[in-house]
Amino acid sequence: MVRLIGALVGLGFIVVLTFSLIVGASGFITEPPTESIEHKFHEEAKHVSFPSDGPFGRFDRAQLQRGFQVYKEVCAACHSLDLVAFRNLQDLGYNEAEVKAIAQQWAIEVPDINPETGEPTTRKALPADHFPSPYANEIAARAANNNALPPDLSLIAKAREHGAAYVYSLLTGYQDPPGNLPPEARPGEGLYYNPYFPNLNLAMPPPIVADGQVTYADGTNPTREQMAKDVSAFLVWTAEPFLESRHRAGIATLLFLLIATILAYLSYKQIWATSKREVRPAGPLDPENMARREFVKADAAAEGRGVEG
Ligand code: HEC
Repeated sequence: MVRLIGALVGLGFIVVLTFSLIVGASGFITEPPTESIEHKFHEEAKHVSFPSDGPFGRFDRAQLQRGFQVYKEVCAACHSLDLVAFRNLQDLGYNEAEVKAIAQQWAIEVPDINPETGEPTTRKALPADHFPSPYANEIAARAANNNALPPDLSLIAKAREHGAAYVYSLLTGYQDPPGNLPPEARPGEGLYYNPYFPNLNLAMPPPIVADGQVTYADGTNPTREQMAKDVSAFLVWTAEPFLESRHRAGIATLLFLLIATILAYLSYKQIWATSKREVRPAGPLDPENMARREFVKADAAAEGRGVEG
């Protein structure tokens, strides 16, 4: 009885699954899924290389300083770097006095509390402060940016697929919408067409618009591509300031494992050097079995019974 019920339940499952397979397959054939507009027009990040790429990658300090300058003069107007403090800039080769001056002269003041009245206020940045947001809070940020929130950029190079190459592509990827773009995907009021952004239209106005927008102290030609590349490299550093020591530790670990493997192999050779390795065939080729066979044959011959083979 129980078996019968079990079989019926199993049969029920099979019927339902087969039915849904047929319905699904016929739906797929009669109405094949259409490619979404975003999928069709979206472009993968451009191929661009950074000195920090690969297991031997290192930061180019001069490039990081240029990238910082672009952040300071362009991006900081809308984006904070919550996880980076002014004093971390010493990593880029600025000395203590320079860092102090950079913090002092930062255009955006940091929020504070007036020690006498307890009222919220702002003050000049100190080296221990983190790069502040220009907006008091998220509502103010959205109100100023067509209801979009400029994200904190500290970890953006880690948070997006293709990292720095994506940021570079985004910054250099603004263009007029293609003619065959359907009307519903055209940028609305306050949006800008950029095929590198997943939904094609973003609320960030093109930040890098002209060659020479910043003036580099080291004499590098500030083309738009150069500025975009430098600030992207800078954002790799903000997302992973310890990248170089991580790479170094990785290489050192691999070297150690390589040497340990060689030593282990040599000691294996040393330990087994004196013992002979013996390969003994099994079955009919086993010398013992062969000898036994010879014996039986000779015995049979002696008795006059021929044994073949
Ligand atoms: C005028 C303000 C403004 C400036 C200046 C600005 N941004 Fe933005 N940014 C925004 C806003 C607003 C968004 C959110 C866009 C959205 O979600 O549609 C954004 C988003 C981004 C994103 C995230 C895109 C994503 O995948 O979500 C990156 C990266 C970025 N900005 C980088 C930069 C860099 C680098 C600079 C300086 C070269 C810069 N921005 C300058 C307003 C600004």
